[in-house]
Amino acid sequence: MEDRATEIIKDIELYGAHNYAPLQVVLVEGDGVFVKDINGKYYIDMMACYSAINAGHRNQRIISVATSQLLKLANCSRAYYNEPLSQLAKLLCQICKMDVMLPMNSGAEAVETAIKIVRKWGHKIKGVEKDKAEIIVCSGNFHGRTITVVGFSSEEQYRDGFGPFAPGFVSIPFGNIRALKKAINKNTVAFLVEPIQGEAGIIVPPKGFLKKAYGVCKKNNVVFVADEIQTGLGRTGKIFACEHENVQPDMYILGKALGGGIMPISAVAGYWGVMDVIKPGDHGSTFGGNPLACAIAVEYLKLMQEEDFPGRAKQLGDYFIRQLREIKSPHVKEVRGKGLLVGVELKKEAGGARRFCEALMEEGVLTKETHEHVIRFAPPLIIKKDEVDLALEKIEKVLTQI
Ligand SMILES: Cc1ncc(COP(=O)(O)O)c(C=O)c1O
Repeated sequence: MEDRATEIIKDIELYGAHNYAPLQVVLVEGDGVFVKDINGKYYIDMMACYSAINAGHRNQRIISVATSQLLKLANCSRAYYNEPLSQLAKLLCQICKMDVMLPMNSGAEAVETAIKIVRKWGHKIKGVEKDKAEIIVCSGNFHGRTITVVGFSSEEQYRDGFGPFAPGFVSIPFGNIRALKKAINKNTVAFLVEPIQGEAGIIVPPKGFLKKAYGVCKKNNVVFVADEIQTGLGRTGKIFACEHENVQPDMYILGKALGGGIMPISAVAGYWGVMDVIKPGDHGSTFGGNPLACAIAVEYLKLMQEEDFPGRAKQLGDYFIRQLREIKSPHVKEVRGKGLLVGVELKKEAGGARRFCEALMEEGVLTKETHEHVIRFAPPLIIKKDEVDLALEKIEKVLTQI
């Protein structure tokens, strides 16, 4: 007879489309940085749902706010006002140092929203001719999976078979200021960039790139849009990764951790001069700004500030990266990252990161390969030093014994 885990995996593979290739583990419980599988085995979660579970699994503050909001009013409609949205809008604008925010649900949806806003700003305010707006993006980008967004991906698999795509996007090499200057023309409305490319394999741009890029955008009346869906809200050792270069973008796109690890909620935050182009009827979302998600987001933002998630990420991230670099493994090409967003790139001869992730799973550490050769580590930001040490011990074992 098959065990329950095998049955569950079989049913998911049989009745679910195969858009992921999960590791062979069925999770049933989470607590802090640990998760438990259906057979009772514990793992340290070094993935945190692609950086969404910053506050840890089953965070008591998040759960109690969620529960009380659920028992009051989980959802209404944007046809009416609700209190948690007012609290979130105010707090998020304070934290982002922006005038106004617009709530959505998923990250990709917020990226689409930002694209609509900057295009409309370009056409209505900047004076770009109708339907001629251009947005500059970077090669290696990852901004989500919708058609518009994969249309300007440089990753062949993300695009293959999904066209035709929306025009109006120009790609430059990530980190190349000269290419940015060259790509700008009278139709350019925005530069859309991840301050650190997460899905591309934790790629940190050359020092000074963001600052210079921001300057170039200012000079040319181009909106600098930072996609901080993965890097934002504490992950890299600052609230926003742009802060590492003292850059205050014109627009932030946020998601993932904003939902306290339990609710999809995303947002675009920007200045009135640009955001003002959105009028009633221009844009919307059935669930965007619902009271449950907003109440949870407010609690996450308070937690992040009160428990100094950015400070923890900086301190433990620096330590983690230092210790990883000490590991003497024949397979490691480079260890890189900022805060607790860390990538270990393996040499091509290592045979791909997947088998290392499988071996880590056997050892009780959950993570996942990003692209073929990078192991990504992004634990909950509530992780403690002894838990980092526990993960390091297992990682060292796998990297040296395979
Ligand atoms: C930088 C960035 N932008 C956008 C997205 C898409 O977010 P979502 O999966 O919530 O649509 C991601 C997801 O990994 C991301 O890392």
